[in-house]
Amino acid sequence: MFKRIAGTKDILPQETDFWLKIEKISRRVFSLYNYRQIRPPLIEEAALFNRSLGESAEIVQKQMFLIRNNSELYALRPEGTASVVRAYVENNLEKKDGLVKLYYTGPMFRLERPQKARLRQFHHLGCEVIGAYQPYIDIEVISLADRLLKDFGIGGYKVRLNSLGCAKDKSNLSSILYDKLKIKLNELCSDCQARFERNSLRILDCKNESCQVVVQGLEIGNGHLCQECRIHFEQVKQGLTLLGVDYSCSEYLVRGLDYYTRTVFEFTHPDLGRQQDALGAGGRYDNLVGDLGGNAAGAIGFAFGMERLLMVSGPLPTAQSNDLVYLITMGEAARKTGITILRDLRQAGISADTDYENRSLKGAMRRANDLGAASVLILGDNELQNKSITLKDLTTGNQREVAISTVVQELLINREPRTLPIRKAGTDHESRIK
Ligand code: HAM
Repeated sequence: MFKRIAGTKDILPQETDFWLKIEKISRRVFSLYNYRQIRPPLIEEAALFNRSLGESAEIVQKQMFLIRNNSELYALRPEGTASVVRAYVENNLEKKDGLVKLYYTGPMFRLERPQKARLRQFHHLGCEVIGAYQPYIDIEVISLADRLLKDFGIGGYKVRLNSLGCAKDKSNLSSILYDKLKIKLNELCSDCQARFERNSLRILDCKNESCQVVVQGLEIGNGHLCQECRIHFEQVKQGLTLLGVDYSCSEYLVRGLDYYTRTVFEFTHPDLGRQQDALGAGGRYDNLVGDLGGNAAGAIGFAFGMERLLMVSGPLPTAQSNDLVYLITMGEAARKTGITILRDLRQAGISADTDYENRSLKGAMRRANDLGAASVLILGDNELQNKSITLKDLTTGNQREVAISTVVQELLINREPRTLPIRKAGTDHESRIK
């Protein structure tokens, strides 16, 4: 009798119902944030991962499922980011779509020592935003991950946040660490001793207790960050606070893949145990698109491990989605108020998006049209002063000013006839549709 390979799982029908619910909720939430699905192949040239994750990454060193085909070396994908960026560059998505907001689910493969929350075939639920350097997109991506967990009914998790800084800052941090750790090498676990020459950064998030004692004595701080990266990080933190995302900063969070720069984050859950406590993780990778042959483009994303989500899930609630509202803000003050309006719209079940590419009003209106938005909200200095916002219906062309405090309500009322099911002839609701 054949048995499944260690580290793989059969997802049987009782469990599949649970998976379908998670996938359904995530499809709805991603569409509320205006993300579209991408499905890259499971198999890629192995060199794609060597180049993206870095030769010294543990995944590349010892965890890739490799397939040799004559002179070609393929790999079963160990993660999704490299494939999505490859697809973005290869298919010219930059030219066709500008900023892209993509999500994916599917199996990933890593030749790990199998344990309860560590499989050889597991599944990612992830997203990647390519084409923006703004901190507002970091804020959107991290708050989107937070929203997903909430809609899955998962509580008790923690959000850890750090900034690695740009490539130069990161290499400064590596050399600072190298010097500090050189004299403490024999206090580190054997894995970290091996990592020391290859990738000293990784020693910071080793789970081994003796390594943690050493690391905590190093007093690293954020001194390696240049002025621009420091400001970026401050803006991300401010935005997350404004949106009520409960995070804590951890200078020890570094992540194991070479492509990360600036913001990195992790969602952890105590029920997963100490060794593998990450439900999901992500960060910026501003140099990867250029490294893989595209034009330089800021990018950020995250991935949750589906199996780990299921290990900590409670009962799953349901909800419904609406047409897209596109918010256009002018000026920094409007931008800040804007992200709270976006949050409130999405909270109310209205799909909403905004411009992250500093377009002109005309450019942003064009973008709203291209996206097929049902309406546009415009927030500038005048409106801000009056605590109001301009609401334009793109179907009728009608435009009016409404109070910021009532805009969500206004949009909900306008949509009601289109989204509610018709029950009986002659009801209030049906007559309103006519
Ligand atoms: P990662 O941290 O390697 O990041 O994986 C993301 C999540 O996948 C982990 O937090 C964990 O929940 C789950 N996971 C990883 N390995 C296993 C395993 N062997 N068994 C079960 N679950 C596992 C990435 O892969 C990045 N591509 C995330 C990202 C997207 N960064 C930017 N965009």
